[in-house]
Amino acid sequence: STTTTAHSGEPSATRDETSGRGETGPAFPDGFIWGAATAAYQIEGAWDEDGRGRSIWDRFSRLPGKVADGHTGDVACDHYHRYAEDVRLMADLGLAAYRFSVAWPRVLPTGSGPVNPRGLDFYDRLVDELLAHGITPYPTLYHWDLPQLLEDEGGWTSRDVAYRFADYAVAVHDRLGDRIRTWTTLNEPWVAAFLGYGSGVHAPGRQSPAAAFRAAHHLLLGHGLAASALRAAGAAEIALTLNLAPVIGTGACERHDACAAVSTVDGLLNRQFLEPALRGRHPLDVLEIVARHGGLEHIEDGDLEIIHQPLDLLGINYYNPSFVSCAPGAPGDRVYPGSEGIRFDRPAGPTTAMDWPIAPSGLESLLLRLARDYPEVGLLVTENGAAFDDVVRDGRVADTERIGYLDGHLRAAHAAISAGADLRGYLVWSLLDNFEWAYGYHKRFGIVYVDFATQRRIPKESALWYREVISRNGLSY
Ligand code: NOJ
Repeated sequence: STTTTAHSGEPSATRDETSGRGETGPAFPDGFIWGAATAAYQIEGAWDEDGRGRSIWDRFSRLPGKVADGHTGDVACDHYHRYAEDVRLMADLGLAAYRFSVAWPRVLPTGSGPVNPRGLDFYDRLVDELLAHGITPYPTLYHWDLPQLLEDEGGWTSRDVAYRFADYAVAVHDRLGDRIRTWTTLNEPWVAAFLGYGSGVHAPGRQSPAAAFRAAHHLLLGHGLAASALRAAGAAEIALTLNLAPVIGTGACERHDACAAVSTVDGLLNRQFLEPALRGRHPLDVLEIVARHGGLEHIEDGDLEIIHQPLDLLGINYYNPSFVSCAPGAPGDRVYPGSEGIRFDRPAGPTTAMDWPIAPSGLESLLLRLARDYPEVGLLVTENGAAFDDVVRDGRVADTERIGYLDGHLRAAHAAISAGADLRGYLVWSLLDNFEWAYGYHKRFGIVYVDFATQRRIPKESALWYREVISRNGLSY
């Protein structure tokens, strides 16, 4: 069945009688962007080189008990020194796009003030290496490594940090702007705010609902300020990456469309960010929760206009749906202030090594919802992937479960495109096994295995499978 979409082509399921293999499955539109993603603190290492300043993750990972086994990103995948080898690996896999993040403390070691040219030199070399291999760079400006000195002044709870972020964005654009087309401001502001300042499971480790809501607002403000500054500096495309998930009612809430648990969590997780960024308005139900947790004083007149910048691409990080039900008396979850009376469920079924449910249909419904509610913005899956307990045997990593996960989610993405979603591409998380935040190096998300003792890279079976998907621009039956 072939469905024509309004944008870049016609996804279809085709029979290719001429190829040796005979049959191909779901095919993606011409020009569909295939790639992989990483983030600076998770892979770079070189924590103390070339004038890099400290970030909140340098500090947090050294606090006892915060990261599994006291792991830090000091060395990580040593990508700072091995970037050329890693780019060659990407080229071997046929990647068209590589999403990475720029470390703010490399560029501005104290968070503001003078630029450290040696920090920018690294991204200059990386971008040139990517372009020399025909790979489009997709930099993200903030993937959680706030300069520690800015945290000392209040971090994202301080309004001033949003302005510092825009200055930093321009500094990076000044150096790389001639070679970058798409600029992503933030990665997952919900996580930065509610795990960093709410539950304290992430850096900087603060535990205050009021601080988390302030941080969320200032992150959005930083996005808006940076987006308009980048645009003024000549940036072609602006993107924002959010962690989004369908919220699904369970039990008695399953068939109840207006379920309060579903709408509350959907508001806090999804609409809190989508609506200001894409519609220039606050969802009233979320605002009411914010008002009960520290008040609304941090939101100033005119902020929504700043936040609501034209957006070319919405980056979607999708891993699993959220399952909730109404449960009077339940304590809720600390990462969702205002979720008292809601139970967070974990339905039976397959899970990843993170204990996250595997539900590819959630990606389809999410993409269709976004296409319906925000039809004007292009969609890009900026992260999707899974951790499994990979082992090397005879020099190979047979990660069949990861292949199943990726295949299922790509089928879901294809179905959404067929139904009209303007999905431009898919970036797997992650290229490499890396520092999985509070889990340290214990959770392996890579399609390439990293032996952290030797820094040897071993493409997993999923990487070889992904290379075939890319080369046929589609899946097999
Ligand atoms: C989202 C984050 O952006 C990334 O840093 C993290 O490693 C993956 N999810 C997996 O948890």
